[in-house]
Amino acid sequence: LKKLVLRLGSKKTQVWVGTGVLRQAGKLLRKVSSSQGPMKGWIIADARLKKESKTLKDSLEKEGWKIHLLYLKVSEDLKSSNGANRIYEELLRFQADRRSVLFALGGGVIGDLVGFVAGTYLRGIPWVGVPTTLLAQVDSSIGGKTGINHSKGKNLIGVFHQPAAVLCDLDVLRSLPQRDMISGLGEIIKYGLIFDSTLFSKLEKIYSPFHFSDPDLENLIARCLKWKCQTVEKDERDETGAREVLNFGHTLGHAIEAETQYKYYRHGEAVILGMRVAARLSYLRGYLPENTQERIDRFLRGLPVGSIPSQLKNKNLLERLKWDKKAVDGQVRFVLLRAIGSTVLDRQIQAKEISSALDWIRSRRMS
Ligand SMILES: NC(=O)c1ccc[n+]([C@@H]2O[C@H](COP(=O)([O-])OP(=O)(O)OC[C@H]3O[C@@H](n4cnc5c(N)ncnc54)[C@H](O)[C@@H]3O)[C@@H](O)[C@H]2O)c1
Ligand SMILES: [Zn+2]
Repeated sequence: LKKLVLRLGSKKTQVWVGTGVLRQAGKLLRKVSSSQGPMKGWIIADARLKKESKTLKDSLEKEGWKIHLLYLKVSEDLKSSNGANRIYEELLRFQADRRSVLFALGGGVIGDLVGFVAGTYLRGIPWVGVPTTLLAQVDSSIGGKTGINHSKGKNLIGVFHQPAAVLCDLDVLRSLPQRDMISGLGEIIKYGLIFDSTLFSKLEKIYSPFHFSDPDLENLIARCLKWKCQTVEKDERDETGAREVLNFGHTLGHAIEAETQYKYYRHGEAVILGMRVAARLSYLRGYLPENTQERIDRFLRGLPVGSIPSQLKNKNLLERLKWDKKAVDGQVRFVLLRAIGSTVLDRQIQAKEISSALDWIRSRRMS
């Protein structure tokens, strides 16, 4: 078992990574829970994860917790005011109070939603992330960004609310569909490209198309979490710019997700396409040598994600960029690469450069 600690001011988030974490949850959380009286917990779980929910419940009950369990059917639509209300109702019905703890057992949808409910119910109660997708384990469970969608856009309503602890159990990933593994791999590659060239080289070696599993997954996840914790510690609220580098590949990735109504791509798949465009832009803008960009693209286009569909017109994608949350006065900000493992922020990219990068990606044959 590996333990990392995210420190933000006086607050600490303990992060555990390994096998059998769910079974040991009660023990691991002894220090997280306060000592007075029995602890009340609400496990809010993806309805697919009944077995995992029971394991977590048993483990907590052995340590004296009183546990309620609520299953929710997961889709992106659950991350809405309706979804939040379902949970508020449940908490009110059973009189959850300030000493109650919410457990978010599921992928990024459950994590974002339950974190948001925890951040708003009674002006904020503690929560514990129990991420069950690779994407949630390496990325979305850490950093305190919680929220729900609005019909006008994704993640528009939200709060920063750091979890008290995060439990990453590798065993739960066994049932995860390969497509969701690839989606998580997208974020892992991102850490390699922006921070860690050794990690990127390692991924190039271990990856075989259509099947991603790494005997060393525990170390891989811990390494990504270390990068994420370090970045969040520098810039908890995304204000100083340190956290902005995590947006690499996301500017266009979000546009692609939005243009396909969040129904066609997994988040990490769209990020893989977005990173190909960002790498090409890095070359076009004179930061990155062409052979490095070609190396990055060869790896990324070998993943089973496909290219940017021709129905997605450049014009529409560019229009979406103006709505990017990170755009300032209509000027889109792109995180680009100077090298594998090193970034630069560019605010002066022209629409025609983005179009040219998109056309280049479309023209590449998949291998
Ligand atoms: N807060 C952040 O910093 C942040 C960062 C990135 C993404 N996100 C959000 O995360 C969401 C996407 O997360 P996700 O990809 O984890 O999606 P998800 O929660 O929808 O999970 C993907 C699919 O896998 C299923 N699933 C989950 N765990 C499983 C398991 N162990 N075995 C089998 N199936 C399992 C789910 O039911 C779902 O069908 C998006 O809403 C995105 O906005 C948030
Ligand atoms: Zn992401």
